Parts: sequence; structure tokens; C-alpha cells
Amino acid sequence: MTAKSDGERDYDFFISFSNQDLGVVQPVVQAMDEQYGATCWFQEKDSRAEFVDAIMSGIEHAGAFVVFISPHSANSYFVLNEINHAVEWKLEHEDFKIVPVLIDPDGRDISDPVYKRVRFYLGRLNITFYKRGEPLEELIRKIFDQAEYEVKGDTLRQSLYHHSLSESVRLRAQNEILRDFSHEFFQKYVTAESYILDVGCADGENIALRLNGLQYAGLLGVDIDGGQTERAAAAHGSDKNEFRTCDILSDEFDDVLSDYTDEKDIKGFDIIHISAVLLHLSDPVKLLRVLRRFLKKNGYLFIQDEDDGANLVYPEYKFFNRAFDIWADSKESGDRHCGRKIPSYLSAAGYKSCVLAKCGVSDVGLESGMRTALWDIYFNYHLWLAAEENMFYNPVKTNRMIEEYKAEYDARKEEYDEGKIFLQLGFLFFVAKK
Ligand SMILES: C[S@@+](CC[C@H](N)C(=O)[O-])C[C@H]1O[C@@H](n2cnc3c(N)ncnc32)[C@H](O)[C@@H]1O
Repeated sequence: MTAKSDGERDYDFFISFSNQDLGVVQPVVQAMDEQYGATCWFQEKDSRAEFVDAIMSGIEHAGAFVVFISPHSANSYFVLNEINHAVEWKLEHEDFKIVPVLIDPDGRDISDPVYKRVRFYLGRLNITFYKRGEPLEELIRKIFDQAEYEVKGDTLRQSLYHHSLSESVRLRAQNEILRDFSHEFFQKYVTAESYILDVGCADGENIALRLNGLQYAGLLGVDIDGGQTERAAAAHGSDKNEFRTCDILSDEFDDVLSDYTDEKDIKGFDIIHISAVLLHLSDPVKLLRVLRRFLKKNGYLFIQDEDDGANLVYPEYKFFNRAFDIWADSKESGDRHCGRKIPSYLSAAGYKSCVLAKCGVSDVGLESGMRTALWDIYFNYHLWLAAEENMFYNPVKTNRMIEEYKAEYDARKEEYDEGKIFLQLGFLFFVAKK
């Protein structure tokens, strides 16, 4: 993506918003970044003086100022100050663009009294409207048009083919909450001499979080999605960390692993990690056999996977079963009973030892940010995005369930936020040896 106007700048967009609208704004910004390569100044509000300086500098070093207007942001001291500074900056910098995006949850117009203060500053500017449920790519194109940015190619569509936006939002929440779930095994078994293979590494975030702070000799991440491995290499690639694009069920995978072990002059990997991948495969045993050949004699195979049978909720509202059923109908969800099958897959592939080291991640005892991340894995707005991305096998039935789901959403979320709902999600972690 390139700006039409030239000039030195650190960011394409400064994003102004209220923290209370994070759930709406974050996926838009994430897609602008991940799908179009736009650099955004995007931070939650903070009242420290140095932060205020950083805001002013962020605005002055951006090509455009995008403000998400809602009843929250329209009355936020921070957002109004940011708008004020952006408007003043624009007076002296003609190329600087201001893009107001109205995200009113109740469909109110900018003429509504709640927007009186915002109108004072932005009255003469065009407002972009975003209706909840509108495809994000349309909104992003409107923002880019108004900021006079050009999009090169059609990377969003290409990327959706393998990996939808809703899936990447979900994975990010999942990573956040699950990093502690398996970190202890990495801490226990990874040594400074370890070579690690991450199978189905996606953008590398998952394995990077788990290896954070640990010494190891080398990491190889493999994924079928070239866009993802490119992102992994850009974010985490180094002399020690390599990422390759390859179908792990193809013969080429064998070659990739042989080349790597030859090059490093090692007999195999000390740790092989597969997270949320087996459930997507047509032939998991075939993969596990290959991995067994490349696992060192005393090496460990870590498998993290899912099983809807280990999802537990109390009180037992239909809302939750509906959500699990909606996900089960998604083309991206894989085998929802994969977890319970893993010991039999391992045994068929010749592994001699397997322990179910952990089962279930619950909200009990989590601090509030983590509780929200747990909720977001299955219950956040991305369920609705998935519908727009045509991700369902039975769209008619599932879209009806989504309507019922949406109608109950606010009430259940409120109860969850008040700590009145127990939630456990069926994540399982196995440690196997060959
Ligand atoms: C649900 S994501 C899990 C990503 C990551 N391991 C994590 O836990 O966050 C599944 C990943 O497996 C990859 N994948 C699925 N089938 C594959 C195949 N046949 N070969 C290689 N990668 C595959 C997908 O591209 C995707 O990145």
C-alpha cells in the first residue's frame, strides 16, 4: 500500500478511538495491518504525561488520522483532544487527511445530540459510516479512499482463501490465553541445545510466545500458507529461527525436514510441537509417522488440540451450545472431537508413550484481561464475521442460530463479565515419546 502524497512519516494511520470500542476497532486495524501492510499508531488510552507527548508525535508522524466515533469516543477527553490536535495539524499540513468513521451501535446519525462536541471539530468533513456486520474489507477500502491511499493488488482476498480474518482474530485471542497453558512444558524440556520443529506454525506467534525467554539452538516452523510463513519470517525470523512453506501431508515435507537436519548436522528434533493442527488434517496418522522418524530418541512431541466434549459451562444456557454448534459448522473448525482421538493416532503411528498433561482451560482465577481473551476464543463478534465470509457448511441453519445467538449476546456477556458464569474450553495438551 502506498500513500499518494510523498513525505517522511513513521505511520500510515494514527488511530483514535475509545478503549470501550476496542472490540470493533481492533479487527479493523488488525486487517489494515496484516492484510494491507498499513502501519498504524494504535494504542489503548493512558493518562501519563509522556503518553500525551507520544500521541501528539504519533499524529504528526502519520499520513492520516482515523477517528472511530461512537457515543463513548464522542465524550472521551482523550479522543476529543486527539481530534483537536489533528484538526490543528491539518490547518498547516494540507496533505494530512482526517477520516472520521461513525460506528454507532444503535445506528444514530452524526446529527444526534450525543455527537455535539465531535461536530464542533469535524462538522465540515465527510463521515464514513460503518454498520456492524458490514464486511471489514469494504470499510477499509472506504477509509483508504478517503485518506487517498492506494491499495496494491488484492492481498486480502488471497489471504482469506486459506485463513479468514475471523480465524486470525480468534487465534490471536487463543494465543494470548493459552501461552500459560503449555509454557511450563517448554520451560521444563527445552535446553540451550534443543532443536525445535513447529508444525503448522501460522504466523509464528504461538511458538514465539512459548519460547520467549528460553535458550535453544534452532527453530524450524512449517506451514502450508505462504502468507503466514512470510509474516512469521518478518516478525520472528533470525539465524536461529527459520520458516518454510510446505504441505505437511506431502512428500515434500520429508525433504524439508531432511534438508534441515542435514544442514544442521543433527539426528532429529528435540521438541516437535503441533498446536491446533491435527484437527484440520485428513490423515493425522500419516503426519505423526513422519514426525516420529524426525523426533530424536529422547525427544518430546507436544500436541495441543481441542475437543468440544471438554467444554464446560455453568449455568447451562443454550446460548453456549449454540455458539459451539455454530463453530462446529464452520469450515475452519476441523474435527471438534479430535482431542479424544489423539492417543489412538499416536499408537497407530508407533509412539510408545503418551501422557495427557493438561485438559481444559477455565476462567477460574484468571485476571480480567485473560478472562476476556478466553471468552473471545469462541464467543466474540468474530462469529458474525465468519458468517459473512461464507464459512459455513449449512449457512441457512447456522445463520438462524447466529441471529438467536446475537439476541442473547449482551445479556450473557454481561453475566460473564460479572463473574457469574463458569467457562472451561476443551483444550488438551499431550506429551509423547517415540
Ligand atoms: C488453527 S491454525 C494453528 C496455528 C498455530 N499452530 C497456533 O496454534 O496458533 C492451523 C494452521 O495449520 C496450517 N495447516 C493446515 N493444514 C496444513 C497442511 N496440510 N500443511 C501445512 N500446514 C497446514 C494452517 O495453514 C494454519 O496456519
